[in-house]
Amino acid sequence: MQAVSTSGIQTFSPLFLSRMKSAKRVVALTGAGVSAESGISTFRDPQGLWANFKPEELATPEAFRKNPKMVWEWYAWRREKIKEIKPNPGHYALAEMEKIFPKFTLITQNVDGLHHQAGSQHVLELHGNLCRNKCFECEKVFSEAIESEQVPPRCDCGGLLRPDVVWFGELLPEGVMDKSYELSQNCDLFFSIGTSAVVQPAASLPMYAKRSGAYVVEINPQPTEISYLVDETILGKSGEVLPQLLFALAQHHSQD
Ligand code: OAD
Repeated sequence: MQAVSTSGIQTFSPLFLSRMKSAKRVVALTGAGVSAESGISTFRDPQGLWANFKPEELATPEAFRKNPKMVWEWYAWRREKIKEIKPNPGHYALAEMEKIFPKFTLITQNVDGLHHQAGSQHVLELHGNLCRNKCFECEKVFSEAIESEQVPPRCDCGGLLRPDVVWFGELLPEGVMDKSYELSQNCDLFFSIGTSAVVQPAASLPMYAKRSGAYVVEINPQPTEISYLVDETILGKSGEVLPQLLFALAQHHSQD
């Protein structure tokens, strides 16, 4: 089923609203699209990062081994951009959802930290966080910004520091994926928001939720790889759709 917004004003199906109203355990998977309205580029849209940069030259351990300075500087550039931006109404609506549902977990592929900034507390970061660094050798994590003349800076052990994000070919942070599978298989309602749903293993979570009986809803300006399996696709921007969804839910509650 597809709900299409032509005017920016969204209507939600009665079935979806009643599933929202009765939901006890809710999971939202987010991707780069959620931060698009804050001014951060997505990866696979026509103007996305991967249209202008090659992931194999910037986002793999091999790339870092080959050219650590270039990789460090590319991430330093992304860090600088992130400093200038703020959460948008979509991030705030998701933070609000934590207060509405008895159990709500946000699983994000984003590394920009905007969900935390918007006030979300239960966030699983699948792909790490751009603000942290870690040693390429001993994996010691550095949470504070690092001032150093060296590019990249070095760890006490002598190893080079790299951003604490997951690169292609790397495993996700220990325990985070297991927890994400568990939550997705035990929720009543699952949202997939602002993700193209092509990067595994994150892209498999909506399928796990669906197979386990959850009502699965995606929010995206365009259909995605998982549109065929979800219960509803809401075509629209998350910064517009999510606040309206909260409003519609409040109206629905007040009709009781
Ligand atoms: P993509 O760039 O693949 O997908 C972004 C999605 O956001 C697309 O489906 C867009 O249609 C949608 N979108 C754009 N604007 C939107 C808006 N305002 N509201 C809602 N949706 C919008 O980004 P991800 O799916 O997050 O991995 O990509 C997954 C991973 O691939 C990233 O975490 C990153 C990348 O390589 C790593 O760096 C490890």
